[in-house]
Amino acid sequence: MERRFDPAGPLRGSLRLPPDKSISHRAALIAAMSEGETRIDNYLDAADTRSTLAAVARLGAGVEALSGEGSSRSLTIRGTGLRGAQEAEIDVGNAGTLLRLLPGWLAGQGEGCWTLDGDDSIRRRPVDRVAEPLRLMGAGVECREGRLPPLKVTGARLTGIEYRLPVASAQIKSCVLLAGLLADGETIVIEPVPTRDHTERMLEAAGAEITVEGRSISILPIDRLRGERFLVPGDFSSAAFAMVGAAIVPDSELVIEGVGVNPTRTGLLTILDRMGAEIHVGEEPDLDAEPLAVIQVRFDELEGTEVGGDEVPLAIDELPLVALAGCFAEGETVIRDAAELRHKESDRIASVCEGLAALGADVEPTEEGMVVRGTGGLRGGTIDARGDHRLAMLGAVAGFASREGVTVRGAEAAEVSYPDFESALGSLASG
Ligand code: S3P
Repeated sequence: MERRFDPAGPLRGSLRLPPDKSISHRAALIAAMSEGETRIDNYLDAADTRSTLAAVARLGAGVEALSGEGSSRSLTIRGTGLRGAQEAEIDVGNAGTLLRLLPGWLAGQGEGCWTLDGDDSIRRRPVDRVAEPLRLMGAGVECREGRLPPLKVTGARLTGIEYRLPVASAQIKSCVLLAGLLADGETIVIEPVPTRDHTERMLEAAGAEITVEGRSISILPIDRLRGERFLVPGDFSSAAFAMVGAAIVPDSELVIEGVGVNPTRTGLLTILDRMGAEIHVGEEPDLDAEPLAVIQVRFDELEGTEVGGDEVPLAIDELPLVALAGCFAEGETVIRDAAELRHKESDRIASVCEGLAALGADVEPTEEGMVVRGTGGLRGGTIDARGDHRLAMLGAVAGFASREGVTVRGAEAAEVSYPDFESALGSLASG
């Protein structure tokens, strides 16, 4: 599906934000692993998180929809308990988080066999990163060509391990922690740099014994998790598209309420602030275990910046937007230490650089990032989303800020995380 996004004039008003994708996946998985019924409010109804509901239903959990509006759903999940997952073939669709987290639970089922497979993009995403620690814990894990899906997991009696993550990845960390719930003895995960900590917060709320000391997270085995209620905040990564839109379209002024501002997710706020955007974050009362805020963004002149090191995992899904902002900034914007971008829904170093270059940007890929030289704007043209939701939405925002407009090929990819993206952003452009 092709969509055209013409230069828009200022983005103004307040944004309808979809529920957080990362937290929705985890809420469904933890509810399925729990005993009894868990109620989840503001669950994201989008392609990725529908894959997770379908997966837990195949494993034997009872999913019941209660009500919904837009992309927000209320539902209940009756869990199978920690050791009650039925054997199944699981289609994860496009959902990398489901692909990496679910094997942690399945590996700890004393017996049984599961396969996980998905779409073309999923089949290019590495899973050796979760296979290795699960094998060390005692599970059987096979993957295509030693590193790609389909993935076959054979459940076993697991032993706790101390595992140093070879890359900063919340998905690998979460997989090992879920397996740790079912292992004999303590499991310790040591991160090279901090990554999003939703799993730790949510497992603790469900009764797990989890201790965080600096970069080391330890978890003890447990007989049962108690699911009760999860309330999912608005998705910071979805808010990021409108935030950057407001930062690059002159005279814009936006308000976004109910945004999840867990500090392990909000690196973009620090980066945009450094670039000179006018941002105000007002606290709202916390939701369960996650902090919430109302964010205001106002257009201002931007200057280039450097992003690297510890800041990268805190803004990993927003780095394509940093590159877009860099096109409108004065001077150079450099992204380093971000080789992980090559393993997302597309190779985001290649796809962002080629996509922005096609719109007239002066951008160069590097092995582990990119360099953008600001030229004061973007001409416009055509960008191919390559099946990557974040690239499709980046193209739309680029279109609003461009001189000649942008055609996005494969715009339907946005469905993966933000089903009403086009109308939500469109209402700001006409607001
Ligand atoms: C996610 C973690 C990140 C992120 C992805 C969602 C999660 O991946 O890019 O969109 O929900 O845990 P990595 O942890 O593998 O970097």
